[in-house]
Amino acid sequence: MSAEIIDGKAISAIERQRVTDETAAFTQETGVIPHLAAVLVGDDPASQVYVRNKERACERCGLKSTLHRLPSETSQSELESLVAQLNNASDVHGILVQLPLPSHLDETPVLDAILPAKDVDGFHPENVGLMLQGRPRFLPCTPHGVMKMLEHHGVETSGKHAVVIGRSDIVGKPMGALLIQKGADATVTICHSRTIDIAQVTRQADILIAAVGRPEFVTGDMIRPGAVVIDVGINRVDDRLVGDVDFQAASKVASAITPVPGGVGPMTIAMLLRNTLTAAQHSVS
Ligand code: GUN
Repeated sequence: MSAEIIDGKAISAIERQRVTDETAAFTQETGVIPHLAAVLVGDDPASQVYVRNKERACERCGLKSTLHRLPSETSQSELESLVAQLNNASDVHGILVQLPLPSHLDETPVLDAILPAKDVDGFHPENVGLMLQGRPRFLPCTPHGVMKMLEHHGVETSGKHAVVIGRSDIVGKPMGALLIQKGADATVTICHSRTIDIAQVTRQADILIAAVGRPEFVTGDMIRPGAVVIDVGINRVDDRLVGDVDFQAASKVASAITPVPGGVGPMTIAMLLRNTLTAAQHSVS
């Protein structure tokens, strides 16, 4: 079998066009330009690339973005003061603190300090709770992007067994939550580092979602023939970007697969733009 490619670039272009059109209409009606404030602490090269891509995407869609760069030796209280300042800025609709933070900083109080109405990542506990209860304010960008890809590609989730590898707060846990929501209706298994015989579990997946952060962790023999494989990983190996899935092997077994790069990554950005527009719309209503 040779898997179909689920093209994140093409699907995200459709989603970005929708955001562009709706932003133009919103700005025309209200005079308000949706504004994302991104905070980058330190000089992690991957984070710099992600933040630059987010800024560029905002500009292309008619949203405003400002980048707040702080040196790696920034203190916890300095970072939290910047968040407070952005919370109070009436022209800022969305706040994104790029993760990971340098190791001397504690992420949780920083993310908790972001006003839930401006939390376009959907990381604040209030927004996580609303999402879990099926009445979301902002859906977390990566899991939402994955759901959109499945929808665009016509992948049925209802009654299907979805296996998620990874239990992070950013991807694994919310991914499971979205897949079991009414409307998506998948049966979900979440695997993690303490799962026994992970391959035996992943081989039962109709939809396999890898979010482990380990290059080519998912090998061909871990995939059920005909499964749909979504690769959330972006790992740098010898100057090459590889996912959490061994793409060559997986594409011989799966019926459809996302590439890396050009798969989930662009979808995450499109969903961030969507959330920033939503935040701006809520701010005037
Ligand atoms: N680092 C990796 N992914 C993300 C994300 O979706 N949001 C933020 N803020 N940081 C990240």
